[in-house]
Amino acid sequence: MRKILISGASRGIGKAIALKLLKEGHSISLGVRKKENLINTPLDPKKNDPRKFILHNYDALDKKSAEKWIKETVKTFTSIDTIIHCAGIIKRTNLLFNDDEIQDIEHLWKVNVLGPWVLTKKAWNYLKISKSGRIIVLVSMSGKRSKGNLASYSMSKFALMSLCQTMRNEGWEKGIRVTAISPGWVNTDMAKEITNFPKDEMTQPDDIARICSNLLELPNSSIPFEIALNCKLEISN
Ligand SMILES: NC(=O)c1ccc[n+]([C@@H]2O[C@H](COP(=O)([O-])OP(=O)(O)OC[C@H]3O[C@@H](n4cnc5c(N)ncnc54)[C@H](OP(=O)(O)O)[C@@H]3O)[C@@H](O)[C@H]2O)c1
Repeated sequence: MRKILISGASRGIGKAIALKLLKEGHSISLGVRKKENLINTPLDPKKNDPRKFILHNYDALDKKSAEKWIKETVKTFTSIDTIIHCAGIIKRTNLLFNDDEIQDIEHLWKVNVLGPWVLTKKAWNYLKISKSGRIIVLVSMSGKRSKGNLASYSMSKFALMSLCQTMRNEGWEKGIRVTAISPGWVNTDMAKEITNFPKDEMTQPDDIARICSNLLELPNSSIPFEIALNCKLEISN
């Protein structure tokens, strides 16, 4: 059983992963901005074993919260061998953005790239000690190709993919394995504005949770670096 940090676990993909891994008996430590959103749900600390379940404040914009979350987790679990990065935002800033939209670009950079970077850096020594550390990152198809008017989101996800490659390279000899999961549309709040594609034909968060669960069963020699999944055909050339 693993000792897992999951960011962005308040809803969407992160929440689905948390529910699945909790059911499977892993120790899970959830980083969320508003703990009260999980009260009276299966992810309420009162409904779980405090030796195996932590709900902690985490805001990707606040480096100190990453530090405190890790410290608190290690105090209870003694270590951390897995991080699943699900916290992320989308903004529809296009190439010729208005001057006042520059803050959206900065916001994307801070949450989608610096957030997982800082969290990984602070947990790195623990991942290393385990000799089979795992880092799973929710990237996106937007981190593989640029499409539509999502210039800034795509920029952040390409940068995140590059971060995944570096983490893989630097972690390899220490037994750390990285998987970048790149879905197209997933049926969560993030995709709620998509009206030209049926929600039930999108990738479902529970299916990504199943992928994560499978990844955690594989040995160091068999971890895929990248999992790209489309809910709709894309012809790239
Ligand atoms: N849905 C899709 O179609 C899709 C496709 C490809 C990739 N992805 C990626 O998958 C990841 C999860 O997306 P999702 O669909 O689950 O989105 P979602 O339902 O919108 O959930 C986003 C999660 O990120 C958290 N978050 C946002 N800003 C944060 C911050 N500053 N600090 C800490 N947590 C923060 C949210 O917390 P709050 O509840 O506090 O806001 C929430 O838990 C994202 O990285 C996204 O880019 C999603």
